[in-house]
Amino acid sequence: MKLPRGSMLLVASHNRGKLREIAGLLSPFGISVRGAAELALAEPEETGLTFAENALLKAQAAAGESGLPALADDSGLCVAALDGAPGIYSARWAGPDKDFSIAMARVERDLKEGGARDASAKFVCALALAVPAGEAACFEGEVHGHLVFPPRGGNGFGYDPIFVADGMTRSFGEIDPGLKHAISHRARAFEKFAHAVLLP
Ligand code: IMP
Repeated sequence: MKLPRGSMLLVASHNRGKLREIAGLLSPFGISVRGAAELALAEPEETGLTFAENALLKAQAAAGESGLPALADDSGLCVAALDGAPGIYSARWAGPDKDFSIAMARVERDLKEGGARDASAKFVCALALAVPAGEAACFEGEVHGHLVFPPRGGNGFGYDPIFVADGMTRSFGEIDPGLKHAISHRARAFEKFAHAVLLP
């Protein structure tokens, strides 16, 4: 499955930040993007049990509905001592108000209650591409590190202030966003996607 230069791709996300980030990554390959909100597409329920299943179901629903090739991402934080939680429930742990200080406090509390000494964690991103005819593929990227409390720094989003990547001393909330984007789970998934699907 290849996307030639000049293709139009639907990004199956209602999140404007994600759309902007993905548009920037795709423009050097001559791909232009449309957002799911622009085409008023429904947001399917994320019923998958893995990041890849959720990314694929979002991409396939969007491609079917729009008639365009569609790209969807599903991502989250997996904490080793919590058996991979919050994982695919990362966004849901922040509650209806999407308050990540609540989600980060829950991670800290669950680690303390479990008496965990191991603070290792990873961010995972699954990026799925689906075409209207039905073909689909998924690419995954990870960045490994450990958690720190209390949260540090105001950059980034979500769980960034408690995550320090391997080889770093500052959290994703403290480092320059450009540095995060160069090594993040999303960047690594995108690299695999670009290698497999895009033409230089
Ligand atoms: P999704 O939009 O359903 O894939 O939810 C992803 C959730 O995972 C986000 O709401 C964040 O909580 C978390 N997450 C994913 N990527 C990152 C990241 O790069 N930094 C911080 N949190 C992230």
